[in-house]
Amino acid sequence: MSKVLFIKGHPGNSQTSISVQMLERFQADHKKNYPNDKIETIDLYNDNIPLIDAEVMSAWTKFQTGKATEITASEETKVARMNQLADQFVAADTIIFAAPMWNFGYPPMVKAYMDAAMMVAGKTFNYSPNGPIALLKDLGKKAIILEASGSHLTGTPNEAYTHASNHLKGILNFVGIMDVQLVAAEGVSQFPDKKNAIISAALEKVSNLAAAA
Ligand SMILES: Cc1cc2nc3c(=O)[nH]c(=O)nc-3n(C[C@H](O)[C@H](O)[C@H](O)COP(=O)(O)O)c2cc1C
Repeated sequence: MSKVLFIKGHPGNSQTSISVQMLERFQADHKKNYPNDKIETIDLYNDNIPLIDAEVMSAWTKFQTGKATEITASEETKVARMNQLADQFVAADTIIFAAPMWNFGYPPMVKAYMDAAMMVAGKTFNYSPNGPIALLKDLGKKAIILEASGSHLTGTPNEAYTHASNHLKGILNFVGIMDVQLVAAEGVSQFPDKKNAIISAALEKVSNLAAAA
């Protein structure tokens, strides 16, 4: 039995969003193929994902300076939730992200999730004199990114603008998750006449991955 974590990085639903449609296709096909897997889902726009704010930074400083007893109740609540999110991320064998491209990045709650759950010293990486140490490597973990974008950037002179998936892949690799696959429904606004074909092709890839994941 594998632990699968779905991360919905979109405020909309499958009626309005292609990336959510891809997520739901993955979830449905995965359930058919692997009914015994342990599934958890985070809805980044509806679940509590604390931002790194003044309270969180204050709590971290108090921990680091031996003043943990001075942490306020509100600071403690935020830091405890971040720890819970990080533990859930660390425990997952397969992590599936779904997010749209917004202004060449992912929505801000995806960044909030990276900050809260993925880049956590002591849980996902450690500092060392020889550089950072990835704590999730060689554990057979994998990740899949499902992304929709208005323009088609891959393989074009604008490929450098694929920041969003490169950022997420970079963070996954940094913590040791090297098996990262991307399914991109690219160009849905740029090529309106091909939109349905682009979505169908992406959904077929999603189904194939869900059968293999
Ligand atoms: C706020 C916003 C910003 C966007 N920025 C970009 C962009 O930088 N590049 C791009 O190719 N498409 C951009 N788009 C188009 C979306 O990527 C496209 O509509 C895609 O289908 C969104 O995914 P979704 O269908 O899951 O919502 C943007 C759309 C929105 C709403």
